[in-house]
Amino acid sequence: MTRGKFIALEGGEGAGKSTQARMLVSALAERGIHADLTREPGGTPGAEAIRNLLLDPPGEGWGAEAEALLFAAARADHVARRIVPALDRGDWVISDRFVDSSRAYQGGAGQLGDKAVVALHAIGSGGLRPDLTILLEAKEDHVAARLAQRDGDNSDAIGGRDITYHRAVAEAFRRYASEDPKGFAVIDAGGTPEEVHARIMSAISLLPES
Ligand SMILES: Nc1ncnc2c1ncn2[C@@H]1O[C@H](COP(=O)(O)OP(=O)(O)OP(=O)(O)O)[C@@H](O)[C@H]1O
Ligand SMILES: [Mg+2]
Repeated sequence: MTRGKFIALEGGEGAGKSTQARMLVSALAERGIHADLTREPGGTPGAEAIRNLLLDPPGEGWGAEAEALLFAAARADHVARRIVPALDRGDWVISDRFVDSSRAYQGGAGQLGDKAVVALHAIGSGGLRPDLTILLEAKEDHVAARLAQRDGDNSDAIGGRDITYHRAVAEAFRRYASEDPKGFAVIDAGGTPEEVHARIMSAISLLPES
């Protein structure tokens, strides 16, 4: 049995990750490929419980270290109980965010630094990397308009951080992609959802033996 492919969608708030993840799963189904659509933080009952703690923190909120450990704990459960079993069955896994979000938000733009986040991932999840990470790059003003339409003034504890933080997140994502050009496809997230989807499908056709 051929192991499935693991594809992660990454990028800042409102880039279109969830929209594109759904479109990708449907397009794969049309080609006879069963793909498990999942998300981070979350994807298993335990990890979804941690998601609620992260995005709507009790009390005064998490410190940087506690936050990074909670993300790593959620991911460890997600990888062990959902992602690896699906890949072993031969299914594909499409994850709406994965470890590079932790690297960008807690590592690059946060206080921990990339090395610490990568080390936590090695402990928690055996350092599992997607076969391909799709980085959706959207212009700030396009994203602001999309999010205003979707959320109004309601953002979560991480999405609601200031613009300087979100710019540092975008910069960190770009840096990780440039350091690993084979592992990433950087996709222009501008245009209609169908246009972005077509770019993603052409990036995936470049995966070996897909
Ligand atoms: N190409 C597009 N053009 C216009 N609007 C879009 C496009 N893609 C997605 N949208 C809309 O923009 C909003 C944000 O998209 P989506 O929820 O897919 O982004 P996301 O990256 O998953 O965001 P988050 O990080 O907050 O989960 C949604 O309302 C969605 O319908
Ligand atoms: Mg989303």
